[in-house]
Amino acid sequence: MYSDFIPVNEPLLDGNERAYLNECVSSGWISSEGPFVQRLETGMAHYVGRKHGIAVSSGSTALDLAVEALGLQAGDEVIIPTFTIISCAAPLVRRGIIPICVDCDPHTYTMETHDLDSFITPRTKAIMAVHIYGMPVNMDKIAKMAERHNLRVIEDAAQAHGLSYKSQPCGSFGDISIFSFYPNKHVTTGEGGMVLVDNPELAERCRSLRNLCFGEKQRFVHHELGFNYRMSNVQAALGVAQLERLDQFIARKHEIGAYYSWNLAKHEEHIQLPIAHTEYAKNGYWVFPIVLKDALGVNASQFMKRLKEKGIGSRPFFFPMHQQPVFVSAGMFKDVSLPHAEHIAERGLYIPSGLALTIEQQESVVRALEETIAELF
Ligand SMILES: Cc1ncc(COP(=O)(O)O)c(C=O)c1O
Repeated sequence: MYSDFIPVNEPLLDGNERAYLNECVSSGWISSEGPFVQRLETGMAHYVGRKHGIAVSSGSTALDLAVEALGLQAGDEVIIPTFTIISCAAPLVRRGIIPICVDCDPHTYTMETHDLDSFITPRTKAIMAVHIYGMPVNMDKIAKMAERHNLRVIEDAAQAHGLSYKSQPCGSFGDISIFSFYPNKHVTTGEGGMVLVDNPELAERCRSLRNLCFGEKQRFVHHELGFNYRMSNVQAALGVAQLERLDQFIARKHEIGAYYSWNLAKHEEHIQLPIAHTEYAKNGYWVFPIVLKDALGVNASQFMKRLKEKGIGSRPFFFPMHQQPVFVSAGMFKDVSLPHAEHIAERGLYIPSGLALTIEQQESVVRALEETIAELF
């Protein structure tokens, strides 16, 4: 009944990807010095309306670079959503910066923004705004709070290529923003990421930090420690081909989201579906997340196991930062309880929604979900 396994994500690489990769090989430009790197940087900057793009090796290294470039120091506090990937907390903890975790909204899964002021202390220096699963976080609330308390804002748009907040592109907010180009993103370079800024000095600092802080006058004489976070021309070639079709990809994601929303609506007694929009943004359905309701009596991993037996791939939700063993065993987040994130981490998963997904595959996913719900009920 279920022919081939349906993976949770498969990228679409049938545009100019092959031609541009051939160009890299035939020209010999395979390092970060090649022309596609700059094309991707200006292309992304133009797409989101930022002045400078700095291509790097991943979304995680982009966040690391952002924290370093803003000069955040040990002992500073940075507000982050607890419901996110470890890449947001790691660059802080490694530097002795203290992440202050905030719970998520139970419907958008983005950071709760209604009482952000209660997290402010004299040591608070910055806030990370993270768009989650295709839904932008409330940027107005974050921007107002940042202004009131003179905080730096890092916008993590790793999952938000082509999404908008009140018609303004995600990736254009705050002091510094970042994207990931991992293959499950709307634009992929295989592995890769980007930092985007408007301030020219900050851009220069990011470029230098990305490239080992080579000396200006004497290349191998260093006045500061940097990193090798460079992106190769081969990776950027893929990204340029992908960016050419971003609008088309966004439209396809909306179709995938609309199909699942329509066909699964009758199961809302058992599963919570993603909301289509808030008052400030439309859902871009980067992935299609579902949260199992209590009536089903199973957690996400038990449900995912049943889907896998039916040939359907899925992924669990993020595990909250305040519960990560690596932090808890170091004595962090004592007595922190953030119930919404804890609940969805236990009950949430996302189903196949990659750009190469066919309508027949979507039908199979819906059928497998319906059968699993029927088995449990
Ligand atoms: C919100 C968020 N930030 C950062 C990253 C890190 O990106 P990368 O996997 O390219 O290191 C991811 C990856 O999925 C992410 O979802």
